[in-house]
Amino acid sequence: MKKSFLSAIAVSAVLCIAGCAVQSTQQVAQESSVPKKAQTLHFDFPKDYKNWMHGTSKIILDKSSPLYGFQQVFINDIGSEAYKRGGSYPEGSIVIVGFYEAIAEGNEIRQGDIIWYAGMKKDSRATQSAGWIFNGFDAKTFQSKIDDPINGCYICHTSMKHRDYIFTSYAGDVSVAQSDVPKAVEGSFAFPADVRTWRHSNSKVILDKNSPLYGFQQIYVNETGFEANKKGGPYPDGSQIIVGFYEPVKDGEAVSQGNILWYAAMKKDSAAAPETGGWIMDGFDGKMLNSVVKDPVSGCFNCHTVKKDKDYVFSEYVP
Ligand code: HEC
Ligand code: HEC
Repeated sequence: MKKSFLSAIAVSAVLCIAGCAVQSTQQVAQESSVPKKAQTLHFDFPKDYKNWMHGTSKIILDKSSPLYGFQQVFINDIGSEAYKRGGSYPEGSIVIVGFYEAIAEGNEIRQGDIIWYAGMKKDSRATQSAGWIFNGFDAKTFQSKIDDPINGCYICHTSMKHRDYIFTSYAGDVSVAQSDVPKAVEGSFAFPADVRTWRHSNSKVILDKNSPLYGFQQIYVNETGFEANKKGGPYPDGSQIIVGFYEPVKDGEAVSQGNILWYAAMKKDSAAAPETGGWIMDGFDGKMLNSVVKDPVSGCFNCHTVKKDKDYVFSEYVP
């Protein structure tokens, strides 16, 4: 079962990713169950997709898989509620998945350069693929590189018909109102319940359970800090960065994002935190959302000082 699924992935992807237009058109003509002339609708690559809601990440380490890579899923505003619900996407919804190099070294997996993008856009003209236009894009030119989206993409996604053809689901939801979050402790700030609406910067996985940084890390930056994060600092007052440490769920050569463990957070406030580089640093329990850090200088800041030239921020924005 598993094996045949994987070989199905391989076959379809060779067709679609290598762009074997001739081969796949012949196949369409031979199979009577599929329409004689497959639709080839396209849509333009949405270059601002990194400003969209981040859905989830998944890593496929097997380089021979067509789904190989450090995957990042983003959803536009129109589709974001449906993605959270898990179905019934309105017209105009777009879901983009970026496939980045997955750099596995020892107990770490980092996100490398972009390889290619796959996208789906809800468009009622796409009558042969359940109202979704499927498209793949070259990472450099952003040009479409899919010749047969019906056989190369849609057929495989039909197994997810019950969720409107989308496989992945929204990860890391914080379904708590800000008013229900524990009050800020002295010298710190309350956990920001809207963190999942912030911009996604980067992801990383540390599989060593003994490391203080263990987890599937998701780094989110608020609007105030996002431009600085792209440039590598300095950050204006009001900037906030959060790392969510989620349980890494390993399944063979796949790693996905599990439940939240805890959050590490920093907020720029140069007047309030001169001893820690102008950043208030705190950690929060993943469930209770209360502060868990007693001494931010020895517990947090002293480790971040090596990144003084980047305004004390380690991670780099991945375009
Ligand atoms: C053989 C199966 C298969 C084929 C072929 C395939 N996909 Fe997918 N696709 C998946 C799976 C499975 C996921 C979820 C990520 C994962 O598990 O690696 C996914 C995820 C996606 C996503 C993110 C939204 C979601 O469903 O979670 C988009 C967008 C997408 N695929 C588009 C495409 C496009 C465009 C093509 C054709 C170029 C394509 N897919 C071909 C199986 C497939
Ligand atoms: C052992 C060194 C170390 C300690 C201690 C530490 N951090 Fe970090 N922190 C890092 C590293 C390294 C990264 C980058 C992600 C990675 O490589 O795992 C990071 C990332 C972060 C980020 C995302 C922004 C960035 O710098 O990349 C925040 C926010 C953060 N840490 C806050 C904290 C807080 C709050 C504490 C105290 C509870 C803390 N850190 C303790 C090393 C440390």
